[in-house]
Amino acid sequence: MLTDEFGREVTGVRISLTDRCNFDCIYCHNEGLGDTRGPMDPQDDEMSADDVVRFLEVVEEFGVDSVKFTGGEPMLRQDLEEIIERTPDSMEVSLTTNGTFLPGRAEDLVDAGLERVNVSQDALDPEDFAAVTKSGAYEKVLEGVRAAVDAGLDPVKLNMVVFEHTAGYVPEMVDHVAENDGLQLQLIEYMPELTGRPEWNIDIQRVHDWLAEQAAEVEHREMHDRKRYWIEDDDGGRGMVEIVDPVENPTFCANCHRVRVTHEGYLKGCLNRSDDLRPMGEMTKPEIREAYREVVANRVPYYGEYMVKNDDGEWEINDEYVEGYAEV
Ligand code: 5AD
Repeated sequence: MLTDEFGREVTGVRISLTDRCNFDCIYCHNEGLGDTRGPMDPQDDEMSADDVVRFLEVVEEFGVDSVKFTGGEPMLRQDLEEIIERTPDSMEVSLTTNGTFLPGRAEDLVDAGLERVNVSQDALDPEDFAAVTKSGAYEKVLEGVRAAVDAGLDPVKLNMVVFEHTAGYVPEMVDHVAENDGLQLQLIEYMPELTGRPEWNIDIQRVHDWLAEQAAEVEHREMHDRKRYWIEDDDGGRGMVEIVDPVENPTFCANCHRVRVTHEGYLKGCLNRSDDLRPMGEMTKPEIREAYREVVANRVPYYGEYMVKNDDGEWEINDEYVEGYAEV
């Protein structure tokens, strides 16, 4: 296992297979690359299935034991099943998708080796859903979630980005997962760093406090410093809700154990940074090994190290990481 200078082991990789998407979510940071959405047809710049598999075989050597495929919309890749099939057996495979292509394909993904899935679902109302995703595919997404549960994916997590447009629907979504077996809810704090709309922020602490009041049980997982809230409905149904709150949160960054790969095959040590992208050359195994070692060696917690608080209590880039600082 490779460990960075801050004692963080890298145990997982998150691979974007394409930046194409059939949605246009207003909050989307596109894995930290900004709005790069291109045409919907297959693109030459995307890593091939062979490239992805070679990368996974290399990081397996370094003890990486989980991979999450993401996008864009990863199910736009027709070779997704092949990629999952060829993923080393020692790795747990998960997928983050908008869910629209799960009906009719969820079982094939499970047969290929997919274990778990996150489906982005930001609202329980077709109109609100359309306003956030710029898509009318609400029913398709619900169908996709059902297909995922029926195919045996476990857990099926609903990803809900909590920001101005959706905060009011948190209680409904919490009830929804309590009432429906097999579903969990992941409330994701809106990250304004990469979207440029800070006015959509909400105070995530209020969501923590509200959930703590509702919960029958609260579990604190030390490993990720994350809390799990267990919610019960009137009929004895039970649902699990987690909050992912990375914004201005040094503890979150101190517990980050993943390296990202862009759809073009660049290693990326931090979601919030694009000044640390590293190509893997022609993607031969020795080139991948070298680039991966370097990216892990250069990994830096974003909040608390790359960004630090100044005397006025505002976050600013740590002088150590300002280019050319040494010559000044
Ligand atoms: N803030 C928080 N989460 C985001 N996601 C995308 N953009 C943002 C953002 N600005 C998350 C969504 C989606 C996943 C792919 O990335 O939860 O489900």
